[in-house]
Amino acid sequence: MADVTITATRNGPYMVKGKVKLIDPRGNEVDSESDEIYLCRCGHSESKPFCDGTHQKIGFKASDPAPEVG
Ligand code: FES
Repeated sequence: MADVTITATRNGPYMVKGKVKLIDPRGNEVDSESDEIYLCRCGHSESKPFCDGTHQKIGFKASDPAPEVG
């Protein structure tokens, strides 16, 4: 069983649950002390790689939503 789960939320960010090491394009570790983070999927966050809620303001619709779980 995986210690980390990544869930594509409906028309929103990727929810990552579990301890992960997040690395930016320059190879630097991004501070994230939480075991639950939300990664931007819409591309419009001002706090990338994290979601800042902008997806709601712009009406982001995922073109390829993940299947429903449960
Ligand atoms: S998914 Fe939330 S700001 Fe991009």
